[in-house]
Amino acid sequence: MTMNSFVTNDALMLQARGIEKTFTLHQQGGARIAALSGVSLDVERGECVVLAGASGAGKSTFLRCMYGNYLATRGTIAIRDDSKPQRHVMLTEAAPHEIIRLRNTTMGYVSQFLRAIPRVSSLDLVAEPLVSRGVDEDEARERASRLLERLNVPRRLWTLAPATFSGGEQQRVNIARGLIAAHPLLLLDEPTASLDAGNRDVVADLIVEAREKGAAIVGIFHDEDTRERVATRIVRLASANAAYVQTDSGVLQTC
Ligand SMILES: Nc1ncnc2c1ncn2[C@@H]1O[C@H](COP(=O)(O)OP(=O)(O)OP(=O)(O)O)[C@@H](O)[C@H]1O
Ligand SMILES: [Mg+2]
Repeated sequence: MTMNSFVTNDALMLQARGIEKTFTLHQQGGARIAALSGVSLDVERGECVVLAGASGAGKSTFLRCMYGNYLATRGTIAIRDDSKPQRHVMLTEAAPHEIIRLRNTTMGYVSQFLRAIPRVSSLDLVAEPLVSRGVDEDEARERASRLLERLNVPRRLWTLAPATFSGGEQQRVNIARGLIAAHPLLLLDEPTASLDAGNRDVVADLIVEAREKGAAIVGIFHDEDTRERVATRIVRLASANAAYVQTDSGVLQTC
C-alpha cells in the first residue's frame, strides 16, 4: 500500500472502500439480492456515525460486514491495529482467528437481539468480555454489576440466565455486554429498539460517554431523539437492490 491512512492519521479506526454485498439464495432458484453496492466510509475516534436509510437499504448488512460476520462480495474493510507495522488489519482478507482477536481487542458489536447462552447468569455474561481480556473475575463482576445497575436491570435478575427475560431486559444485558470492555470501535444495531424512554436515555448517555472517551462508533438508531443525541454525522445508505437486480447505482450521501 503506497498511501496508508492508518499511519498518517492516528484517529482513523475503520476504513471501508467500495463495499458490495450480494446474497445468493441457493434454495430459491439462485435469486440474487444486492444489499450494498459500493459503500465507502471512514470512521475516526470520537465520532458516532449513524447509518440511515430505508428499511432494506443494507444498514445491518454493512454493520455485519464491518464486524466480519459477512464477507463483502467486493471491496475492502480495514481496522486499526497498532500492534502491526502497517497499523491496521485488512478484515476482508483476515483469517478467522485474526477476526476473533480483533473482536477481543478492538471491536464491540451490539446486535438487536441477545443471543442468550443457556445457563450463564446475566452477570457473568456481561463480565465475560472483561474476563476474556484478562481482567480479574471479581473486578469484572463488580464492573458488570455497576453497569447493570445503571441500566436498571433489577438485581434479582443478575444471577439468572437471560433466556426468560423480557425483550427490553435482554436488550439491556446485551448492551452492557457490548459496552463493558470499552472497545475502541463500537458497532451498534438498533440497541434502543425495545427500550422505554427512560432506558433509552441511559443508553444514549452511555454511548455519548464512550464517544467522548474516544471510541469510534457506527450505529443504527430509528429513534429520532437518540439519533440526535449520539450522532456526530449521519450517513444515508441508498437502496441497492431495486427488483433484486445487481446494479452499480448505490449512492452514499453524507449529510
Ligand atoms: N442473510 C441474508 N440472506 C439473504 N438476504 C439478506 C440477508 N441479510 C440481508 N439480506 C437482504 O439484504 C437487504 C438489506 O438488509 P438489511 O437487513 O441490511 O437492511 P436494513 O437497512 O438493516 O433494514 P432494516 O431497517 O429493516 O433493519 C434486504 O433486502 C435483505 O432481504
Ligand atoms: Mg437492520
